[in-house]
Amino acid sequence: MDFIPVNEPLLDGNEKKYLCECIDTGWISSEGPFVKEFEQKMSATVDRAYGIAVSNGTAALEVAVQASGIGEGDEVIMPAFTIISCAMAVTKVGAVPVLIDSDLHTWNMCVDEIEAKITPRTKAIMIVHLYGLPVEVDRVLALAKKYSLKVIEDAAEMHGQTYKGKPCGSFGDISTFSFYPNKHITTGEGGMLVTDDDELAQRCRLLRNLCFRKDVRYVHDEISDNYRFTNLQAAVGLAQLERLEEFVERKRAMGRYYTEKLRNIQGLMLPIEKMEYADNIYWVYGIVLDSEIQADNITMQKLLAKEGIGSRTFFWCMHEQPIYQKQGLFLNEAYPNAEYLARKGFYIPSGLALTEKQMDKVVTGLLKVMNSIR
Ligand SMILES: Cc1ncc(COP(=O)(O)O)c(C=O)c1O
Repeated sequence: MDFIPVNEPLLDGNEKKYLCECIDTGWISSEGPFVKEFEQKMSATVDRAYGIAVSNGTAALEVAVQASGIGEGDEVIMPAFTIISCAMAVTKVGAVPVLIDSDLHTWNMCVDEIEAKITPRTKAIMIVHLYGLPVEVDRVLALAKKYSLKVIEDAAEMHGQTYKGKPCGSFGDISTFSFYPNKHITTGEGGMLVTDDDELAQRCRLLRNLCFRKDVRYVHDEISDNYRFTNLQAAVGLAQLERLEEFVERKRAMGRYYTEKLRNIQGLMLPIEKMEYADNIYWVYGIVLDSEIQADNITMQKLLAKEGIGSRTFFWCMHEQPIYQKQGLFLNEAYPNAEYLARKGFYIPSGLALTEKQMDKVVTGLLKVMNSIR
C-alpha cells in the first residue's frame, strides 16, 4: 500500500539550477550572495525594510526576543496553544510566558482575554498566527499601543497571508518566519526575522552570528549562538519565493477541495474558509473532532496510518508541557479551549506536492475511520 506522507514539498522550479550555481561558484556558506538576495526579496514581499535570515524559525524567535531586550522577570503574553519555540524563546532569557486561551473556531489566541493579563511586568505580546488564519491583529496592536508593549509577530505559518489586505509579517516591531518543508515556501531548514527598525536589524545580525565584535573579530562582549543561514538554503528559498503566489493558490484550492469532500462527514470541525479579514491559506489542513466523538487525535493518527494516510496531532499546550510543569511554571492554570484543540485536533496530508488522487484517498480513508469510531 502506498503511504501518503503528511507533507511533501514541491521542488520542481529553479531549486536545482540555483543549487548548482552554489556548487559551481563554491559559495555554500552564509557569506554567499544568495543570502542577501533572499533576505531582500523575502522582506520585500511583506513590505519590510530588513530581513535577517537564520537557521530556523525557532532561532528567529529566540533572536527576536533577545533583540527586543526582553529579560529576567519580564512577561510576554502569548497563546497557550502553540509550538514550544514561542515559549522557549521567552523562558531561555529568564522571562515568563503569560498564556491566553484559544478561540475554538479560528484556533488562534482569544484576543478578548489579553487585556486582563497585562501587568506592570508585561513587556511584549507575541502574536502567533496558527494553521492558516491570522490573529485579530488590529485589536492586539491597539492594546500594545495603549500599554506601550512591544509586538513580536510569529508568522512562521503565514507566507503569503494577509490581514485586512496587509501582509502577515508586517505587523510586529519584529516578525519571524520559518521555512521548514511544511511551510508554503521552504529552504529545508531556515527562518527569517523581518523589521523596519535599522537598529533592531543590526542587533539581530549580531545575535545570529556569535556576537562577533565589529572592530576585532574573535573578541566577544556578549554570548549568542551561531544561527547562520547558508547560500544553499537561500538558493532553494529564492526558487521557492518565485512561486509564492502559485503555492498559496494551490493550498487554497486544496483546502476548498478537502472541505467540499469532507463537509458531510459527521463529527468533524473543518477549518473556516473565510473570515471578514482574511481567507484561509491552510498552512496545513487541520480538523478538530466534535465533542461527541470519544476518540482523541492520537487514536485518529493510528487509525489513519492503518489506511496508509500520514497525519499529525495538533500542538500540545504550553501549560501542559512536562518540562514547564517540572519547573513549576503555569501551576493550576487551565485553558480549556487550548486543551481541547491539543487533544482533538489533527491534520491530514496537505503538502504542496499532494495530488487530487491522493486527496481522494485521504477522504475515503477518513470516512472509513470515522465510521469505525462512531
Ligand atoms: C507557529 C510556529 N512558530 C515557530 C515554528 C518553528 O519553526 P522551525 O521549525 O523552523 O524552528 C513553527 C514550526 O512549525 C511554527 O509553526
